[in-house]
Amino acid sequence: MKKQKEIAAEYMHRFESIFRCPVCSRPMQVAGKGSVVCEKRHTFDIAKQGYVNFLTSPANSKYDKALFDARRTVIQAGIYQPLHERIADWVTQEKHEHELVRMLDMGSGEGSHLARIQQTAASLFDGEIAAAGMDIAKDGVLAATKQYKEMIWCVGDLARHPFAADAFDVVLNIFSPANYVEFKKICKPDGMVVKVLPHAGYLQELRNLFYEDEEKQHYTNELTVERFMESFAKVEKQRLTYKAEVDPSFLPALLQMSPLSWHQDENTLRDIHLPEITIDVEILLGQG
Ligand SMILES: C[S@@+](CC[C@H](N)C(=O)[O-])C[C@H]1O[C@@H](n2cnc3c(N)ncnc32)[C@H](O)[C@@H]1O
Ligand SMILES: [Zn+2]
Repeated sequence: MKKQKEIAAEYMHRFESIFRCPVCSRPMQVAGKGSVVCEKRHTFDIAKQGYVNFLTSPANSKYDKALFDARRTVIQAGIYQPLHERIADWVTQEKHEHELVRMLDMGSGEGSHLARIQQTAASLFDGEIAAAGMDIAKDGVLAATKQYKEMIWCVGDLARHPFAADAFDVVLNIFSPANYVEFKKICKPDGMVVKVLPHAGYLQELRNLFYEDEEKQHYTNELTVERFMESFAKVEKQRLTYKAEVDPSFLPALLQMSPLSWHQDENTLRDIHLPEITIDVEILLGQG
């Protein structure tokens, strides 16, 4: 049986033109034994689990394995499916039979959004969706690599990422920090950047539970939206709001996903009853 590293190396080899060296910006290739190497021989090994660490200096993330596990449980429970469907619709619009769509998720965390969007998009058209995810948190990328095969998983920093100009048809950026100058560079001229950010009602039931202070219950995304609008020639903005049912089996993970719950004691958390949760997001689509 093939080892995970070999499978990853083969898959990366097929799509090696998406890489450029994070040190010297030259093109890269996947070398036989399992590393990604540039023309100046800067070398990044494929780990035995199948991901590549492209960080050029150590990085800290406030997200750890427990938090990524919680996000995976909640995302896999399906509460974001309407969002995944909306994005998958966009990704496959105007695509032709047998076409190859290259999609990157910047700040992909533990990978479940990307995997589900890829799966949903693949069911909508007759082509192939090649998917890559990058995050600065190694715990997230490791979790993604273990769970989702036949995808490219990288540890990297937005500011010094390993991707080439015009490499992608779609760049996703879901609840994560952004770098629009770089997103535009790595996106093909007719490609699109899709950003998802929370809107005022997002997970409001959690805020109602944990914040007594009215002031803090409000959240605004105006500045982020403004920055996005300034960065692209053509922008489409869609708000998606719905209530998703909460099953007790994933309630603890849902509570953990919110930083608001981290300082609560176990008894308080155990007594919480939450039949549904509001998903209220802004989806921004940028081109040019
Ligand atoms: C709120 S989490 C969202 C993760 C995932 N998209 C999701 O929705 O589950 C934000 C993510 O951005 C990542 N991140 C923060 N700064 C980053 C950077 N400079 N480069 C790459 N990723 C970064 C974090 O490690 C974290 O996984
Ligand atoms: Zn190099």
